[in-house]
Amino acid sequence: MTMPGCSPPVVPEEIRTRIETLVRERGAVVLAHYYCRPEIHEVAHFVGDSLGLSQEAAKTSARVIIFCGVHFMAETASLLCPGKTVVLANAEAGCPMADMVEPEALAARKKELPGVPVLTYVNSPAAVKALSDICCTSANVVAVLRSLGSRKILMTPDRNLAGYAQKLTPEKEVLTWPGFCPTHHRLNLAEILELKERNPDALVLAHPECQAKILREVDFIGSTSGIIKHAARSDRRKFVVLTEEGVLHPMRKNNPGKIFLTPKTPMICPNMKKNTLQNIVDALETLSPVVKVPEEIRGPALRAVELMMAVPRD
Ligand code: 13P
Ligand code: SF4
Repeated sequence: MTMPGCSPPVVPEEIRTRIETLVRERGAVVLAHYYCRPEIHEVAHFVGDSLGLSQEAAKTSARVIIFCGVHFMAETASLLCPGKTVVLANAEAGCPMADMVEPEALAARKKELPGVPVLTYVNSPAAVKALSDICCTSANVVAVLRSLGSRKILMTPDRNLAGYAQKLTPEKEVLTWPGFCPTHHRLNLAEILELKERNPDALVLAHPECQAKILREVDFIGSTSGIIKHAARSDRRKFVVLTEEGVLHPMRKNNPGKIFLTPKTPMICPNMKKNTLQNIVDALETLSPVVKVPEEIRGPALRAVELMMAVPRD
């Protein structure tokens, strides 16, 4: 699918004004992940990847954080900002990959691997982070792995991210967990090879949540913001983008002369797309649904997140 241009998403004027008024009244900030709908990008104060959103939550002076993303992201904001009200714009927005690791199962695996540190992708429940030594995002996974003293490390829940990180750190032995992101994992190799053949002049950019057989065929692997930055800096004109299609909005908007191609298999995260403009209005009006991590989990989960944030991005 080729879409060289980019028409601005429509935000009805009355909704924009209502959001602006409520934001002022509530002392709120609206944070959104790149995978949210374009119209959400247009009203958010900050749009970023998982790491960028955590950093932004940690430093905001707003009293209320309206989070447009999925549940684990709001949980991370709640960990970092215990004194603030964190509201997930749509209570139904979960992450299937985060649900693929449960604290009981991780506790049992840790018993089988005494002394092996656990590195957990932020796409995980807070209760799992609390059982982990450190967290990572796709933007700092390699740096975090290298920061650990141990050679053997258990990584949860994304087996594709773990496989990618293992390739870049041959000095480590990365034990994996069988989780994956349905949106990235389902990419079809034959389709990507065909897309490359038809577009030999395109640079192929992929997120490390894609399978190894796909990552072997691409020119650049990076987090959501890594992909966006790489395309902006590159002097190439054409790109194949292998991550959730929410990134296409900023990419097309900020690079009008460039062409961004996507695979036939749509890369859409249905949970990210649950967040709507009306959800933001409702969240600001009702200050619900609040996401708050129970106190007994918060301490150890925060420790794992803070250790991660002290490590620079890859
Ligand atoms: P990043 O924001 O770290 O690129 O991760 C993508 C993702 O799948 C978030 O759910
Ligand atoms: Fe979870 Fe994948 Fe959606 Fe990210 S894109 S929120 S990992 S399902």
